Amino acid sequence: MISTAQIIRLLALKRGLDVEICAIAGAIHDIATMESGKAENHATRAIDYIAPLINEYNESKHAKNGTLAITDEEIALLEEIIPQHCSKEVLSTHPYVEILKDADTIDRYLHGVETREMEQPRLFAVLAELGFDVN
Ligand SMILES: [Fe+2]
Repeated sequence: MISTAQIIRLLALKRGLDVEICAIAGAIHDIATMESGKAENHATRAIDYIAPLINEYNESKHAKNGTLAITDEEIALLEEIIPQHCSKEVLSTHPYVEILKDADTIDRYLHGVETREMEQPRLFAVLAELGFDVN
């Protein structure tokens, strides 16, 4: 979702992570739901859609000169982090896994989706990181 992409850009700037790969992750993290119309297991099912989508992009005129192409290493990173984005209660040591979960948590909150109890520590931690008083 575009809103997730914008939120993750902000967090990536703050955390010193690669802004563009984070934005791509944010934009396509729900691709399985978008492509299939079904939300069940959409995080893990995303693995079926990521590489074909990126390869289609890489073949497009926008990426043809190579400077805007997404590398195999970046595809591998997307395939590692996106399938984990629904496990909000699980803390990872992988900064890109965590940032996608955090951005999705904030995005869902801003869209008025109820924050499940197990997701609340993450929500409060990210809001505090952004300087909001959560007490
Ligand atoms: Fe999702």
